[in-house]
Amino acid sequence: MAKQKTVYFCRNCGYESPKWLGKCPSCSEWNTFSEEIVRKEPASSGWSPAGLVSSGPKLRKLDEIQFENQARMPVADPELNRVLGGGLVPASFVLLGGEPGIGKSTLLLQEALAIPGRKVLYVSGEESAQQIKMRADRLGLHNPDCYVLSETELGQIMVFAMDLQPDIMILDSIQTVYTGKLEGSPGSVSQVRECAGAILRFSKESGICTFIIGHITKDGSIAGPKLLEHMVDTVLMFEGERQQHFRILRTVKNRFGSSNELGIYEMQGEGLRPVENPSEILLSHRGEPLSGVAIATMLEGNRPLMIEIQSLVTLSGYSTPQRSSNGFDGKRLSMLLAVLEKRGGFRLGNQDVFLNIAGGLKVEDPALDLAACISVISSLENRIIPADVCFAAEVGLGGEVRAVGRIENRIAEAERLGFRKIYVSKQNLAKLRPSKAGIEIIGVSKLEDLVISLFAKQA
Ligand code: TYD
Ligand code: MG
Repeated sequence: MAKQKTVYFCRNCGYESPKWLGKCPSCSEWNTFSEEIVRKEPASSGWSPAGLVSSGPKLRKLDEIQFENQARMPVADPELNRVLGGGLVPASFVLLGGEPGIGKSTLLLQEALAIPGRKVLYVSGEESAQQIKMRADRLGLHNPDCYVLSETELGQIMVFAMDLQPDIMILDSIQTVYTGKLEGSPGSVSQVRECAGAILRFSKESGICTFIIGHITKDGSIAGPKLLEHMVDTVLMFEGERQQHFRILRTVKNRFGSSNELGIYEMQGEGLRPVENPSEILLSHRGEPLSGVAIATMLEGNRPLMIEIQSLVTLSGYSTPQRSSNGFDGKRLSMLLAVLEKRGGFRLGNQDVFLNIAGGLKVEDPALDLAACISVISSLENRIIPADVCFAAEVGLGGEVRAVGRIENRIAEAERLGFRKIYVSKQNLAKLRPSKAGIEIIGVSKLEDLVISLFAKQA
């Protein structure tokens, strides 16, 4: 007979423990354990050699396996194609994570309606069929082969999917699906894990591409996509500030392509619009020249982007000056300010420093260092950086300007957008092949040299 068993799961990473723990030994989060009842099946034959029976011809020599070059299935949206590594791979299992309200359902419904000539099943446990229809009308898209199902029981979902045999199945969301085989309520760690495992097997055996949506909340109050990451082929994260229009679709893991690709969307009244030329939008608000504004080139995956860094440096009213940054790592900013103080002799100890990345992007590329430093100096000294100048280099603790990767791509993007001068590290410049570039490439080795060359004429 099946017996009941109580276990404790970490809601963040799914770690299982027989007793309650304050801190998770696996992911080090505090207060994430919750009690769940799982029904345990009676132990089967055990591991004695006599009890082990093979279930089918699964063992094969690697050499004998024929590789069928399965064509990728391109979706209609170029940004999604890019983050997937060039289209959907048959039988792949993709997780789309993000905070509630960010636009996950909108994005996938839009893809379901826009994909040409494919049968799609959209399963929603969150919205009724009428609500989905209303949203589809709002998006203004139409796919005669798109089916909707409002259902949350896993077995039922699979029965309908088996009958319909769609090319793509979308499950919105994994936190609403449950199986009667387990006791826990939908969204509990054991349910999320069990259902995702079953859908994974289903997707691999039936050849249906499956997208599952997973909510993340900042306080981790519902079992998050983190515990599913190792299971799925691809993890995409949909990010952005809800108040802003831009949304970023980021590849966190991809078994079929590069894992740092990035897609950019703009949320509009009629759904999400892919932004194919993000640099132009990120730089579009530049009106009158201001001090504190510097343009950097950054790389996300294979894609170069030009972004604007804004700084504001003002005399502090308090004994401890404020340092605040949006989209830029706070620790990195403190380090760069220390370098400017110690190596460049700039007095920042009594100044408040605010630094923003325009457009609500979060960036981590070290190639932004030089532009960040220059934008701080520009605001401190109240000197304007010419509008046709941009920067691509890392700054070291000694104030030295260091080389960054893929400099050719960065220069090409700057040139394409009409910049006339780009400051790079001398090490980068030495390795560049001479070309007839329409942009002047200037190599610098020390921050001081750059400050002199940039602001000398204005003095
Ligand atoms: P939704 O896709 O429901 O978010 P999620 O599934 O991630 O929880 O989208 C939520 C927001 O998007 C909602 O606040 C309204 C907005 N929205 C638009 O601005 N334009 C649109 O065309 C649609 C469909 C939604
Ligand atoms: Mg939703």
